Amino acid sequence: MNKRKILVTSALPYANGSIHLGHLVEYIQTDIWVRFQKMRGHEVHYVCADDTHGTPIMLRAEKEGITPEALIARVHDEHYNDFTGFHIHFDNYYSTHSDETQEYSETIYHRLNAAGLIRKQSIEQFYDPQKDMFLPDRFVKGECPKCEAQDQYGDSCEVCGAAYAPTDLKNPYSAVSGATPIKKSSEHYFFSLSDKRCVDFLRSWTRTGKHLQPEAANKMREWLGNDEENKLSDWDISRDAPYFGFEIPDAPGKYFYVWLDAPVGYMGSFKHLCVRDNLDFDAFWRKETDTELYHFIGKDILYFHALFWPAMLEYAGFRTPTQIFAHGFLTVNGEKMSKSRGTFITADSYLKQGLNPEWLRYYYAAKLNGTMEDIDLNLEDFVVRVNSDLIGKFVNIASRCAGFITKRFDGKLVDKPGYSAMQKLVDERFANWHPSSIENAFDARDFSLAVRQIMKFADEANEMIHEMAPWEIAKDTERNAELQRICSLGIQLFYLLAHYLKPILPETIRQVEKFLNCNTFTWPQLDENEPISQLLLPPGHTINTYQHLMTRIDSKQIDALVAANTQSFSMKQAETPKKITESNNQSPIAPIVETITIDDFSKIDLRVAKIINAEHVEGADKLLKLTLDIGNEQRAVFAGIKSAYNPKQLIGRLTVMVANLAPRKMKFGLSEGIVLAAGNGGQELFILAPDTGAMPGMRIK
Ligand code: MSP
Ligand code: ZN
Repeated sequence: MNKRKILVTSALPYANGSIHLGHLVEYIQTDIWVRFQKMRGHEVHYVCADDTHGTPIMLRAEKEGITPEALIARVHDEHYNDFTGFHIHFDNYYSTHSDETQEYSETIYHRLNAAGLIRKQSIEQFYDPQKDMFLPDRFVKGECPKCEAQDQYGDSCEVCGAAYAPTDLKNPYSAVSGATPIKKSSEHYFFSLSDKRCVDFLRSWTRTGKHLQPEAANKMREWLGNDEENKLSDWDISRDAPYFGFEIPDAPGKYFYVWLDAPVGYMGSFKHLCVRDNLDFDAFWRKETDTELYHFIGKDILYFHALFWPAMLEYAGFRTPTQIFAHGFLTVNGEKMSKSRGTFITADSYLKQGLNPEWLRYYYAAKLNGTMEDIDLNLEDFVVRVNSDLIGKFVNIASRCAGFITKRFDGKLVDKPGYSAMQKLVDERFANWHPSSIENAFDARDFSLAVRQIMKFADEANEMIHEMAPWEIAKDTERNAELQRICSLGIQLFYLLAHYLKPILPETIRQVEKFLNCNTFTWPQLDENEPISQLLLPPGHTINTYQHLMTRIDSKQIDALVAANTQSFSMKQAETPKKITESNNQSPIAPIVETITIDDFSKIDLRVAKIINAEHVEGADKLLKLTLDIGNEQRAVFAGIKSAYNPKQLIGRLTVMVANLAPRKMKFGLSEGIVLAAGNGGQELFILAPDTGAMPGMRIK
């Protein structure tokens, strides 16, 4: 086998927040891939670190009354424990606040400077005169210049979605001190990304089809523009003091912007590992190397990894990434994770509730397909899937067969000559089985395909056992040999399946290795025309007593998890109080209208709709304009619910709409349906919402 040398990274999580189930999509995905490559015998190094610099971290430490160093040390331990709890095994988990990262950041900066790719320019920004600091966009708040919503961030409006500059906000204030910011100019350092060299390099780098997934390459085409236009602008890589980061050499009071040193943290973490384990750093980072470098990232940080980072490396004389593997975002029950719904679930709370981390690893694996599509954690489906696949199909094989082997045959699997009969059964049944297809799916990060194939194999194994019904044969002591052969066959198939599941379920399979009295599993290799039985345990192999491998999930555990993560609803309500007045509280119940038939009813096409945008309508005092997603189309609906709802509260929610109502032309535009709400108007209006799990476009019958 050709032994590859592979360096793998996951994005470096910010040191100012907890790890949540969204993050884990990435780290679990990477860990599975790394374990798989290691099982195949390749030399793989998996490094990561905390991303520790920037204003938010500086301010948070200040708020807590500790130094940034103390904060990042604490968070480092928390993150490391969370990852370890989910069996994510880094070869090194480091920090960007390290000598190594500083050294490589400076090297890269000096080399870019020497190449003529660093320039200085004065720019004007908001400055907090009370705190004596420049304010990053997210730290300026004010009224949206477009819809006038209050308390919007300096980069975009959460109510109407408009994007703008902080200086466009009406009545801006500093989110740090509350003071009115002033405009002040200062000199910034820029990486000249718009330089023809960079543009040409990035055009060819992103177009080769080798380094990026097709969807990512498309995004690049959007960002880079076509050959005639240059859409890239220079990148501002400096921030003024006070800032928590690395000071720029020979530029007192100027610091590298956090995103300059963040990816350099990959190098820093690896360098630290190289010193510890005596590895050759340069072999992995020099130009023209035959080692491989892969970055797993979320789609939100593609810009940094596919544009800035390769250009930085290229012009600083380092190798560029072999490939960038971007993934989508996690939704829970079809929606963005939400604190009020309890679906913003932290890694720590999951573990504290006593849920098995391998359940989540398996579920994510079953959903990940190597593309940038979002992945959904449907909590009901999670319970069903894990219980039916892992317990019902996989563990079940061992628990049904192992008892007989232990009790009746002293732990010994069938020996020759019965062994050949068993081999024959397996080879016949799995004649069309190609183990390389599972291998290829893992390699391509299409874990969902790998899982489907593994479970197909498990189904086949269960069916074989079911047909041969060892529990029936066991009743007749004359059929002992047959019983041993059948149960051995079950254990042998279980043994093989366990190999394929090992990257996903490392802890359970470690127990399987002990139970089956085996060395650490490596990836099963089979030549083209060798039969599958070549992969089985040898004749007469002895196994240990079966110990329970995994429990089922009880959906009550999930309820408890969601409850533990639900931000007090009464608190939320208090923020946006809804007055109930005496008069509307006592409104009489309206009489039931004329009876209709089921056919009449079925003429109404009711659909689950997701409110993807809600905004005020200029000049309308009752209406909100809603944009509804009903699966394969979007509808604009003007709804008279302004008196009861703040548009911000509605975005992201599911509701019910009449989808086949004739569109109505209104003063403000065309209304393409209505949403359903109860109540008499005013503040007493309650829009309907389906139960969790419903998806946009589902018909309501
Ligand atoms: N610090 C930067 C990365 C620097 S890499 C040189 C960062 N940190 S992060 O903590 O916000 O995110 C870390 C990774 O987790 C990113 O790849 C991000 O895309 C991913 N995810 C964060 N939330 C996520 C979901 N809800 N779903 C899927 N991945 C998510 O970005
Ligand atoms: Zn707005």
